[in-house]
Amino acid sequence: MPPKSLHKMRSEEIRDRFIQFFEQKSHKHVAAVPIVNKEDPTLMFTNAGMNQFKDLLLGHQLAPYQRVISAQPCLRVSGKHNDLEEVGRDTYHHTMFEMLGNWSFGDYFKEKAIGWAWELLTTVYQLPQDRLYVTIFGGDHQDKLGPDQETRAIWEQYIAAEQILPFAKQDNFWEMGDTGPCGPCTEIHIDVRPEMERQQVPGRLLVNKDHPQVIELWNLVFMQYNRLTTGRLEELPAKHVDTGLGLERLTMVLQAKSSTYDTDLFSPLIEAIAVASSQVYGREEAVDTAIRVIADHLRAITFAIADGQSPSNTKAGYVIRRILRRAVRYGYTYLGFEAPFMYRLVGVLAQQLRATYPHLGQQQAYIEKIVQEEEEAFLKTLTAGLHKLDKISQTLQGSNSSVIDGATAFELYDTYGFPLDLTMLIAEEQGLTVDETGFSQALHVQRQRSKQAAVVEQGDWTMVMEGGNFSFLGYDQLEVTARIVKYRTVKTQGKQAYQVVLDQTPFYPEGGGQAGDIGRLVVAGETIAVLNTQKENDLTIHYVNQLPAALEAPVQAIVDQERRVLTANNHTATHLLHAALKQVLGLHVEQRGSLVNDQLLRFDFSHSIKLSPQELVQIEGIVNRKIRDNIALHEDRHVSLLAAKAMGAAALFGEKYGDQVRVITFDPFFSIELCAGTHAPATGQLGFFKITANVAVAAGVRRIEAVTAVAAERFVRQQISLLDTLKELLKYPKDLAQAVHQLLQEKTALSKKLAAYEATQVQSIIEQLRGNFQTIHGIYTMIARVELPQAAALKQVALALAKAEKPFFVVLVAAVEQTPHIVVAISEDLAQRWSQNAQDIVKKLAIYIQGGGGGSPTFATAGGKEVGGLPQVLQMAEEILEKNIEK
Ligand code: SER
Repeated sequence: MPPKSLHKMRSEEIRDRFIQFFEQKSHKHVAAVPIVNKEDPTLMFTNAGMNQFKDLLLGHQLAPYQRVISAQPCLRVSGKHNDLEEVGRDTYHHTMFEMLGNWSFGDYFKEKAIGWAWELLTTVYQLPQDRLYVTIFGGDHQDKLGPDQETRAIWEQYIAAEQILPFAKQDNFWEMGDTGPCGPCTEIHIDVRPEMERQQVPGRLLVNKDHPQVIELWNLVFMQYNRLTTGRLEELPAKHVDTGLGLERLTMVLQAKSSTYDTDLFSPLIEAIAVASSQVYGREEAVDTAIRVIADHLRAITFAIADGQSPSNTKAGYVIRRILRRAVRYGYTYLGFEAPFMYRLVGVLAQQLRATYPHLGQQQAYIEKIVQEEEEAFLKTLTAGLHKLDKISQTLQGSNSSVIDGATAFELYDTYGFPLDLTMLIAEEQGLTVDETGFSQALHVQRQRSKQAAVVEQGDWTMVMEGGNFSFLGYDQLEVTARIVKYRTVKTQGKQAYQVVLDQTPFYPEGGGQAGDIGRLVVAGETIAVLNTQKENDLTIHYVNQLPAALEAPVQAIVDQERRVLTANNHTATHLLHAALKQVLGLHVEQRGSLVNDQLLRFDFSHSIKLSPQELVQIEGIVNRKIRDNIALHEDRHVSLLAAKAMGAAALFGEKYGDQVRVITFDPFFSIELCAGTHAPATGQLGFFKITANVAVAAGVRRIEAVTAVAAERFVRQQISLLDTLKELLKYPKDLAQAVHQLLQEKTALSKKLAAYEATQVQSIIEQLRGNFQTIHGIYTMIARVELPQAAALKQVALALAKAEKPFFVVLVAAVEQTPHIVVAISEDLAQRWSQNAQDIVKKLAIYIQGGGGGSPTFATAGGKEVGGLPQVLQMAEEILEKNIEK
């Protein structure tokens, strides 16, 4: 094990030493990208440090630096790399973890990558060489690749031959997803078992065997291929290095712990959970697992929410929701948390990581609110799920079966958030079992479905010409002569289109909330509509339904100007609104989401309470004043991120920024924002700004929708025309509001009068009817049709008559506003004596009016559709009476 002096190395220092080591070897330290991946349609979350370099690796883009390093928070919870179910059960898997990586883009390759990895581990971190093992790619028949002898030969310079172990494709050929950059890899593993155990079983036998103390530390991938959609491998234009070293595991080794959860990266959380639940970590396996699950998941959801992905019902939001629920469920079952508890841990994590990830602390209150609300909602569902499970087991106990079927177990999993192991555990306590195969089948079907829904099927790129530096010229030009560099097919839910990449383009790709441009490509006289423009990493992709016949001819790329101008107006209005909100509501207002198109702008921001009408008026007032001031756009296209921040531009959480950013200013004392969007040349172009909606969208987040220019004009016109219609209806009163008010007052007074009149009318009907009872065989009988002002009165009349002397039989019918009604009242003795009670009788009678009804054995009512059936109802009532008397 490492020398004692190193045991004290804190995780921050471990991270820093990695960075320093590679900086000394001329690597550029680049910032991590958000954990929520918005740049790549094939991924929901950043699952490896290399994600942000995908296009560089594929050779689609020129690398600004050939040697790069990063410390990247990653989330492996969906798609090809998914560790969710492992988490908590063992002591070294995580959903969210930090990956330290170094990259070479067409620069150094195997020799240096291996040499430096070895030097860093054995010299800087001083890991004992005899405990290290390296794995190499053993070749693959299907891919027609031989064993990686070159890597073996390099390793033999550093390590004994018996510590070099070949493995198959599954372990030693790394791929980002089903398609994309890939290549053979060599992994460095470490054996941290006690000496005695090592004597008994040599470490090399335990590599890649899921042993918690013989684990992979570092993966060095030699990117040489692109996996095509056909499954075939294509050689990349250049060879690259992509490495990933798990900070948590390295820290575990260097801090001489037997679990990543015992390192300083986790211990504050573990301790806080133990204290909050009055448990002790390290005593009981079930409790420990729950504590680990919660600690891990809390990190995952906190990072995701901070980067803008709140729990929701779809896609990435659903994944976050499931992670959160999994943690809550473990807390509820094993730690006795019956009220929200996770949200209180957000602060512990933010505090612990404040030096490296200050954005967590800056958003703490917001994240807490979202987590707490989600926990509250789920705890209710969880209780409902436990009830359901109780019911299921009761039903099963009454039957011959003792198996909970797969579909039910899956429903509990999917709807109530019960992992299979929980359902099995509860089942076992009740002497039941679960159909695991059925569950797996249902799960498989759902996974396939969600995979299909999420995945956009892309063909491989077809190159038309060599291209390198794709430039966006759309800030200055709306029409550009360009060339097609490459294209591919893309299918979303069965619909096929083409994606085209140009060497330069005026088309703005959807991003920063702003909709992508539409327009046309004119190629050798042929006009092709551009239906949308999107971004994939740094590529601008034009969507078209057909390809031009002359693929290699010059292309006139022309943006739809009207739409662009309207969109730009709304983007500028968004900046003005953002600044006005900060002025009126306070500096806590943070952008949480934004949508800008040619129709409207929608702006989500952190603020917990409803905006008052006065605040809305103030906000609109400020924005409109700035529009009238006709402030010119000031654009700084290439500013360093630091300089931009110094100017007062706030970076948005969850957005990816390069070293050079664009700063948009409308009056340096009013609005300065980092923004890549397109804007009005001066605010006057917006014409007029009008808020059209103001609602809450989530815990602590409010949304404003607004319009500008022609849309604002249209909105105001519609409102005025509505007012005109009202005035016309009210015969042009002097004061419309006063007239409506008076109308309402008159209505209330009239309604009161009418109600009083109807009440006397009903009373007099009751009086009249009272005198009309017939005595048939000693039964006070009333079978009659009555005229009534409203349906409810029929019941009232019948109830009054039912106070008659006993025994009685009352059947009344009425048609109120063309709808037939029946009421049957019968004294209790008759209800018992006769073969039919009021409920039975009303059902029978209702048939004639095509209706239905019900009530109690002595009082029942029915309504129907056929007024013409009322005479038959009365006749049938007579017959029923006769029949019952005869008996
Ligand atoms: N991409 C590789 C991995 O994720 C190395 O960084 O393991």
